[in-house]
Amino acid sequence: MKKGKLTVPDIIAMKKAGEKITMLTAYDVSFARMLDGVGIEMILVGDSLGMVALGYESTVPVTMEEMLHHCRAASRGIDKALLVGDMPFMSYQSSGYDAIVNAGRFIKEAGCDAVKLEGGTEVCATVSGIVQAGIAVMGHIGLTPQTAGNLGGYKVQGQDLESARKLLKSARDLEAAGVFAMVLECIPDKLAALISRELVIPTIGIGAGVDCDGQVLVTNDMLGMFEKFVPKFVKPYANLAPQIKEAVASYKSEVKNGSYPDTEHSFAMQVDIDSLVEDQNKD
Ligand code: KIV
Repeated sequence: MKKGKLTVPDIIAMKKAGEKITMLTAYDVSFARMLDGVGIEMILVGDSLGMVALGYESTVPVTMEEMLHHCRAASRGIDKALLVGDMPFMSYQSSGYDAIVNAGRFIKEAGCDAVKLEGGTEVCATVSGIVQAGIAVMGHIGLTPQTAGNLGGYKVQGQDLESARKLLKSARDLEAAGVFAMVLECIPDKLAALISRELVIPTIGIGAGVDCDGQVLVTNDMLGMFEKFVPKFVKPYANLAPQIKEAVASYKSEVKNGSYPDTEHSFAMQVDIDSLVEDQNKD
């Protein structure tokens, strides 16, 4: 393990110390390096990869090979942050054995420190199998995009008493099954606060209010790079898409009109070019 790298106990200790935990997604080495350099404590190669980088309509089609490929790239940019790989749909549902083998691939082949998987009480046996194999697992409850169809679409979860009770039970069961942290996605802030108080392990909110122990966002969303759809909970900390398009348009027009590359961006000869022309004429 690299010197200075954050570990699972470090992340749990942050909750005990009352220090908020920051987490963002990265899918390649340049973004992972930037986030790590700024001191983001956990970097998630989310299966949101499918939507923001691979052009799929949802996270469902994302494969193990795609996830591992991007985890490997992100891991090469990280010195300190804890790297979490998101287990894609059907990589942990078919059997406990498959779940352990696939979780192991994130650690052995892709440089991840932990895996994340979606689901509540129903995935607890799977979670404890992976944890017993020595792999740190992060839970993910509330809006679980891999099964959003079963939840009635991309909707806020836990707003009525029955579903709030179910989420609270899932949170307790997942903690008992051994997860080291848990993403709470799109649930009311008061429910997230209650779950966060109940658990010893940290909760990481996305659309779950300010009382979670940490926060996560899809980096492309908070930088204004994914223009297709912006969820209500995303604060645009930058609006990069228009800036990128403006820069690309300037490049295009300068290439077309011959003003790029200018002498500042070209290389000078160290000898007189005429001697080369003369040499050629001699031949
Ligand atoms: O895939 C992802 O990026 C995620 C986060 C939104 C938590 O699961």
